[in-house]
Order: sequence, then structure tokens, then C-alpha cells
Amino acid sequence: MTVLVTGGAGYIGSVVTDALAQRGEQVLVVDNLTRSVLPEFSSGVSFETADICDTERIGQLIDAHGVDACIHLAGLISVAESVHDPGAYVENNIVGSARLFGALTDHNVRHVVFSSSAAVYGNASPMPISEDAPLQPTSPYGWTKMVVEQMLAAYDSANRLRSASLRYFNAVGATSRRMERHEPETHLVPLAIRAATNPGAPLQLFGTDYPTPDGTAVRDYIHVSDLARAHLLALGYLRDGGDTTALNLGAGRGYSVLEVIAAVEHGLGRTVPYEAGPRRAGDPAELVASPQRARRVLNWEPSQSALEEIVASVAAHAC
Ligand code: UFG
Repeated sequence: MTVLVTGGAGYIGSVVTDALAQRGEQVLVVDNLTRSVLPEFSSGVSFETADICDTERIGQLIDAHGVDACIHLAGLISVAESVHDPGAYVENNIVGSARLFGALTDHNVRHVVFSSSAAVYGNASPMPISEDAPLQPTSPYGWTKMVVEQMLAAYDSANRLRSASLRYFNAVGATSRRMERHEPETHLVPLAIRAATNPGAPLQLFGTDYPTPDGTAVRDYIHVSDLARAHLLALGYLRDGGDTTALNLGAGRGYSVLEVIAAVEHGLGRTVPYEAGPRRAGDPAELVASPQRARRVLNWEPSQSALEEIVASVAAHAC
């Protein structure tokens, strides 16, 4: 039995792949490498440069490797980019997923762990957000994730696929092997570290007029290792016959942008120069998870997601 990991060369995908390999799973990573650089993988991990839209190739790979389950992380991930180029998000996230699910069902793969996002909620209230909150995405990115979740529900109704859609809140942190990195980099923690280490290029702070205690946006930061562990638990849940579900993956605690900047300054022992500017299009004011359902269904508990611990894991690479 082999687990197909789409987008496994990316930041979260490579940590998920490491966790699978460490557990002794056979893993096939496919990635088109348009937004990532091929990382080193441990033994037991096969890699193929392939696009999830190429159903014929994906089908051949599924058969050749004896794939029984898929962890689907491939896709574009920037809220801001999606506002400016929604077509790319439709093509990569929706059309790509549709093609992939076609290949999976044609080749008898029945289990999918899907990399969804808290962006499906938009400006939700009350906080913390439970999975039953209405889905009202404020960006094309969030909308594509919502549509793919709905596609998976339809596949479930037709008895073709069972799935766990994992609604990530803000994935951050580093492991001993992997740093947070995206191409292009748009995320707060790596950019704050970049600003601290390149004083000539201050961090742009997107919005100081949000209806939050300090006026900056609040997010729920979850360590990538906690996130990866949830994927393994979700895979076990589906293999054991679990029903299609959607689960929040967050720590259940929110931090403002200014609080994150202060934590990075404390962790690095350096100032993070920043310039306050306008809000970034598509950004909700506050996203904090209620992780109760993931606790109950997967017996998942974040254990490395205290903000100081997250920053320390990143600082270990930065210094
Ligand atoms: N921010 C800045 N300056 C920057 C970068 C970010 O002020 O240079 C702010 C953003 O406006 C936001 C916060 O820092 O308020 C976090 O921004 P990130 O770009 O790090 O992350 P996002 O919240 O935009 O998005 C991330 C994931 C999405 C996911 C979302 C869910 O990338 O996939 O978390 O919470 F949907």
C-alpha cells in the first residue's frame, strides 16, 4: 500500500511526507515543482515530477505504485494572489482537483485527505469557529477550497471517495529538516524573520484598523508538525472506515500580527522593522479555530503550537 502525496515538495507536503516515511509508509510524491524546489526525501519515498491535471500519467503512477490513499496538498495558496488572478486558482485548485479525483476513482483509490483551509469561513462569527459555521469565503482562494470540499461531498454521496478535509488555520514553524518557505514568500513569520535579518527591507504590516484589540488581524498559528500528525491520523481514520468529514486544524488561540512580530523579536533577539500600510485584499479580521471536532474524531492534540515554541523552531534555522 502506497500513499500518494500531491504537492509533497512544498512546505507542508514535505513535512507530511517525512512523517509518513517515519511511520514506515510507502510514499509516492508527485509535484509539478512550479512553486517549490525538489527537497531531499528519505528512503521509502518515491518522487515524480507530474501535474495533477495529467490524469493519464497519474493513473499510471497509481497502478505502478499500488496507491491506496491520497493526501492532496497540490494547489496555489496565496489569498492575495487569488484576488488578482482568480483564473489561476480555478485552474490549479478546482480543475486540478477534479482531474485528480477522476484518476483516483478510475484507479480504485477510495480515500482522500484534502488540504483545505480556514479561508473557507471568511469573516465568521462567533470565535472560535466551529466546522458548522457558514462557509462565506472572502477570497477566490477560499472559494476554491470550499468548492473542492463540496466536490468531495458529491463523490462521497456517489460512494466513490471518502475524505477528510483538513481546514488548516495558519501553518508555521520548522522541523529539523524543513523550514517554512514558499515561492513567492507571502507569509508573516518568514517575512518577519527576513525583515529582522535584512534591516533595509522592513516588513509591510497589512492593516492597523481591524476591529481587534490592537487593530491588526488575528490568526491561529499551528505548528507544521502538529499539522502533519493530523494527516496521519486522518489517513488512519479513513482506512478504518471513518465517514467523510471536515475538521479544523488550529491551536484554538489567536495572535495579532503585532503579537507575532513581538514574539519573533523576542525569539531572535532582534528588532523586526515594519511599516504600517493598508489592509491586504481578501484578508478577514480574525480566524481562530475551535479544534474540538479534530480532538474528538482523530484524538488529535496540538503539542508544539505555543507561539514561543513555533518561533524558537524557526529561529533555530535563522540564526
Ligand atoms: N501579514 C502582514 N504582512 C505580511 C504578511 C502577512 O501584515 O507581509 C499579515 C496578514 O495580513 C495576515 C497575517 O499577517 O493578517 C497572516 O498572514 P499570512 O500571509 O501569513 O497568512 P494568511 O492568514 O493570509 O493565510 C494563511 C494561509 C491560508 C489560510 C489562512 C487561514 O496561507 O492558506 O492562513 O488562516 F487560508
